[in-house]
Amino acid sequence: MADYLRRSNANPTRRFPTSVETAELIASVRERCADLLGAAADGVVLGGSSTMLIWHFARAFAATLKPGDNIVCTQLEHEANLSPWLAVARSRGAEVRLVPLDPKTYDLDYAALPRLVDGRTRLIAFTRSSNLIGSIVRVEPFVEAARSVGALTFADGVAAAAHRPLDQFAHGIDIGVCSAYKFFGPHLALLSARPDLLDRLAPDRIRPAPGSGPRRWEMGTPALESIAGLGAAVDYLTATGFPAICAQERELTVRTLDGLRGLPHVRLHGLDSAEGREPIFAVTVERRSTHEVASQLADRGVFVAAGDSYATECARTLGLSPAEGAVRFGLVHYHGDEDVDRILEALADLRP
Ligand SMILES: Cc1ncc(COP(=O)(O)O)c(C=O)c1O
Repeated sequence: MADYLRRSNANPTRRFPTSVETAELIASVRERCADLLGAAADGVVLGGSSTMLIWHFARAFAATLKPGDNIVCTQLEHEANLSPWLAVARSRGAEVRLVPLDPKTYDLDYAALPRLVDGRTRLIAFTRSSNLIGSIVRVEPFVEAARSVGALTFADGVAAAAHRPLDQFAHGIDIGVCSAYKFFGPHLALLSARPDLLDRLAPDRIRPAPGSGPRRWEMGTPALESIAGLGAAVDYLTATGFPAICAQERELTVRTLDGLRGLPHVRLHGLDSAEGREPIFAVTVERRSTHEVASQLADRGVFVAAGDSYATECARTLGLSPAEGAVRFGLVHYHGDEDVDRILEALADLRP
């Protein structure tokens, strides 16, 4: 990013060298992102955050909704992938139906899909994994249900993207989103869609915006230095490789779960096995508020979140109070055993 700002830093639409380089950079980053996501370069839309991109897409999609239509979503969502669908459904006289979360298995009730999806279902939005409790979501039931009624699938990969390949088109997902800052990049997000879909919908745009392609969906001057950083982050992930990332994260997960089992005052809200989960852990500590725990861990150099992490429906379903939620910590491939042990020791110190 620093290099781009020092040496290039030009709007992409001109004829001078730094401008031409910038246009090439953007095209190359779209290609590299498409490879990472298993999607198509001319369907990669870049924007400020996943929340913004989901709203943007939902507003364009809203114009195709009719009263009585429905959108199916889940109780595992971050609000970024629920609030926009609720808002556009309300504005068009449509309905949002939620696939329930089973608080005992920490998994979605896929068996509810045939009851929820019908001939008026226009889109099924689901997360690839929970940003609060780490559960990995099965894609196939959603894609099958959507295909059976001609609905679109919209997958939120924000919590998953750093941990495993998203393989969007191989799974048959029409639209995906993820945020570069979650996979070690800058604060920028990507929406990757089937290119024909992007062309079919009508996003908010200024008149001179191109009539087709991802630029039709992007407003104003792109965040050029962040795009340069996004390219570097994608290159880093690709070079590190998901086999190595997954293997390291699995070891860390096993160590974390083993350690948590030895801390009776700490309750894990999520799967107690390394399978079917990301290394994202939600816990509560006996007789301590989550905010107090987060401060006490911060004093020990362990920086965690407290609250519902915007997974409001999920927290409610698990019986966690809206104000308290859970303490959430996440691990990634560059952590080591010593990081896990520091967290476990800090939690051990909070015995009542
Ligand atoms: C699962 C999930 N979806 C969406 C978002 C929102 O992403 P952004 O912060 O880029 O708006 C987050 C953010 O943490 C998330 O965890």
